[in-house]
Amino acid sequence: MEPIVVTSALPYSNDRLHLGHLRSTYLPPDVFVRYLRRAGRDVIFICATDEHGTPIALRAEKEKVNPKDITDRYHPMIKDELTRMGCSFDFFSRTTAPIHYELTQEIFRKLLSNGFIYEQTLEQLRCPKCDKFLPDRYVEGLCPYCGYDGARGDSCDSCGRYLRPVDLKDPKCAICGTKPVPTPTKHWFFKLTAFQDRLKSWLESNERTPDNVKNYALGWVNEGLKDWCITRDMTWGVPVPVEGAEGKVIYVWFDAPIGYISSTKGYFQSRGDPDGWRRYWQGDGKIFHFIGKDIIYHHAIFWPALLMGTGEYSIPTAVVASEYLTLEGKKMSKSRGWYISIDGYLKGFEPDPMRYYLVSVAPLERDADFSVDEFIKRYNDELADVLGNFVHRTLTFLEKFFGSTVPEAKLSEQDQRMLAAVAAAQTEVASLIESLKFREGMVAIMGLAREGNKYLNDSAPWAAMKTDPPKAAATLYTSVQVVKALGSMLSPYMPFTAEKICQMLGIAQPVHSQPWSASSEPLPAGSRIGKPVPLFKKILPADVPKVKADLIPFKDIGARIKMDDFKKAKIAVGEVVKAEKIKGARDLLHLEVDLGEYGVKSCVAGVAKYYSPEELLKKRIAVLANIEPSVLFGVKSEVMILAAEGEDNVSVLVPDKAVQPGSGVR
Ligand code: 2FM
Ligand code: ZN
Repeated sequence: MEPIVVTSALPYSNDRLHLGHLRSTYLPPDVFVRYLRRAGRDVIFICATDEHGTPIALRAEKEKVNPKDITDRYHPMIKDELTRMGCSFDFFSRTTAPIHYELTQEIFRKLLSNGFIYEQTLEQLRCPKCDKFLPDRYVEGLCPYCGYDGARGDSCDSCGRYLRPVDLKDPKCAICGTKPVPTPTKHWFFKLTAFQDRLKSWLESNERTPDNVKNYALGWVNEGLKDWCITRDMTWGVPVPVEGAEGKVIYVWFDAPIGYISSTKGYFQSRGDPDGWRRYWQGDGKIFHFIGKDIIYHHAIFWPALLMGTGEYSIPTAVVASEYLTLEGKKMSKSRGWYISIDGYLKGFEPDPMRYYLVSVAPLERDADFSVDEFIKRYNDELADVLGNFVHRTLTFLEKFFGSTVPEAKLSEQDQRMLAAVAAAQTEVASLIESLKFREGMVAIMGLAREGNKYLNDSAPWAAMKTDPPKAAATLYTSVQVVKALGSMLSPYMPFTAEKICQMLGIAQPVHSQPWSASSEPLPAGSRIGKPVPLFKKILPADVPKVKADLIPFKDIGARIKMDDFKKAKIAVGEVVKAEKIKGARDLLHLEVDLGEYGVKSCVAGVAKYYSPEELLKKRIAVLANIEPSVLFGVKSEVMILAAEGEDNVSVLVPDKAVQPGSGVR
């Protein structure tokens, strides 16, 4: 049988996960794998924590602990929250496992001997005080594009651009603040350019990878690839297995995806079958990677090229990336506290309603939003009213009219049509899941529940019981088969609910170990069913404020200040009398602001993305007039303009009525 390995992107082991991660990376593959297992396929579901990289090393240094202490703390928390959410990994390893180090080094050596890794000396920043090189986030400074004074050596949080440490203006060591010195050092590069054509044809001929991933990746390939520096001057990571590379480690993005293979190896080792992993990674196995949109480059470019370069491993069958999940229409942000953590959600709610919401809200290749109102609406109208209600009514009628026993039935045409719909849904849902259309599969299951409700209403067994009991028997016999099919087919999506339905029906074999084809096999007449219990308790209007308070992460306003402290700030209205671009700083404008009796002040403002110089000219705006002066890109900045930061824009504050320049703001 064709072996299939399904992976979720490895979470960094220094933070808890949130709903965005769940929607993109952990839930869809779980649905896929849970279905494939029941379809009798040879599938394994693999993940691990990603434990290297500068954010973890730097945090450890600041907290004066070992990086491993941090990853030891988060690994079990992440594993636990995913497990509680129902993610059914076969193995969840760590990239600090010895087997991972061995494999990463082996692959590095292989690529070296195949001629795809070469050495090059280049200048990197080094801190004279800490006496070490400063890779990636070990350096902070001014962003060369937007002037943001807090950009890091790998990216700028303000404008979102990728950076290298040497790109930063006014760089500082993130540990001690010393100005680093460019110093020559030797590094190893992966010849990504050698794979340009192979990547292109792999992407173009790949039938399983969805279009969003293919289009992004082909765009990058067509722009032209660059070789990739795959080592760092630091000690936290997998050591570079080459003589003369002491004190250097392999870059985290080289070792992380190798975690997919090393975790598979660990799995088979733990089962006493040390060569078992080869079927999945070296034979004609199929490999499915599920990731978030932000790491498409790494999975659709770097990773396949690296595998191609070894000549020993299979290339991914599909890279499936989901677009972003917003929260109440706004981008989620860990630093701004605007997110719902998995752990936080699970404190007040069951996993299945969220699994349902996240799968059904939008297809993976489209952006989706989590809104509490919509969550409550779907919970009440779909889970409680459609699914829960149908199951509950069927089982209560069976209890009331037939002593909780499936009755003998002589089926009418209408009953047979209903059963035919069950069989059709079983095939349809299977084929949708196989083609990675998880949302559509869920919609089809809910469609069957709706049809069941309508059938039950039309057949009205409560009335038939008085006039035509055999008809009522046939209706309830049929309805319970629909319930059984729903319970069975829900198992990939809502595993806990599925199991509950199965138990209520008195089926002893756990639903997850029944074959998928059993979904439409009838529960025979004479079967005893258990006590019906409501599956979803409706959220009543009176409960809504509490649900909101439990879910929405309202932010703490922060420390309070005294009126006297506020009065120290001199805020005034000034008229922009001159506005121009600053050479070399794309996001900054140089303004001259007339503050009336205080004179004309020079100001550097990070608003070039939102305002042209002409738009600001002659505007009267609010400024903080007594801020300590600074110099940015050689331009003096004596006052700071005040602006509202919207979701995607920035808006300067202007007085509502005409006031003279220099007027105070209070
Ligand atoms: O972006 C991230 O969260 C990475 N830790 C994902 C790694 S996926 C794979 F390459 F290991
Ligand atoms: Zn330093």
